[in-house]
Amino acid sequence: MDFSWEELTPQQRARHYADWQAGKGLIGGDPTRRPNSDTLPSWAMDRSIVRALALDDPRVANGERFRRQIASPRPLETEIGFGRGDFLLDRSTRLPERLFVGFEVKTKAVRLALRRLENQGLQNLWLSDDDARVGLQLAIPDRRVDAVHVLFPDPWWKAQHKVKRLFSPPFVDLLAAKLRPGGYLHLKTDVQQYGELVRHLLSHHPAFGNHRPELAGSVGPYRPTHREQWCRENGMPVWTYYFPRRNEA
Ligand SMILES: C[S@@+](CC[C@H](N)C(=O)[O-])C[C@H]1O[C@@H](n2cnc3c(N)ncnc32)[C@H](O)[C@@H]1O
Repeated sequence: MDFSWEELTPQQRARHYADWQAGKGLIGGDPTRRPNSDTLPSWAMDRSIVRALALDDPRVANGERFRRQIASPRPLETEIGFGRGDFLLDRSTRLPERLFVGFEVKTKAVRLALRRLENQGLQNLWLSDDDARVGLQLAIPDRRVDAVHVLFPDPWWKAQHKVKRLFSPPFVDLLAAKLRPGGYLHLKTDVQQYGELVRHLLSHHPAFGNHRPELAGSVGPYRPTHREQWCRENGMPVWTYYFPRRNEA
């Protein structure tokens, strides 16, 4: 299948911002319209689950505990679309001094990862079934994140689904706001053209430098995600990028 994208005209860029403002493309739709969006479901209470719109719910301790940890000086990493959570659970085990927040819109996958998190006794990992575009914006302070991992984002091949693609000019603005200077975006994809789209979008943003392969050393050893494992077993190529967040801008 072809993954199509083109350099954006000013009109197309404006369209991306208008869609973003209108909440178009959010997985599961506008979260504020969901019933009981200001609280957590009973299965999530007092566990390592966070939802941006329920952070202030006084009936559960999650929000306060989350905010306290996020306000600490510990380095913070996030993963967007963690799927089965192999990379995220492994990384938070390897780096107990760091905090981790994982976003995955599939609630079932979040619950499975939560069980693994609890079985492993991890105290430094939070999981969220928010669309990361909402969760990052509302739950994470600006310039707080040291690394954002986006591993095999959904390509959304069809033209009518393009609006759901994670990477767009306003999403790159959001990454620029949340990453601290010196932090980085770590992207992996098995769709070469998706990698090139991201490279294009970031090269037009003043907050990001060019792909720097040597930043692989900042990730270090890791457990591959389910998708990466599948690519390895099936001889499919994978493209990996590391984009540094500049100090200025
Ligand atoms: C192709 S899968 C890859 C899963 C995993 N990273 C891997 O490599 O095996 C993409 C994942 O991203 C999740 N996802 C897509 N858009 C998202 C968003 N806006 N916020 C959070 N998760 C998202 C999907 O539900 C899906 O689990």
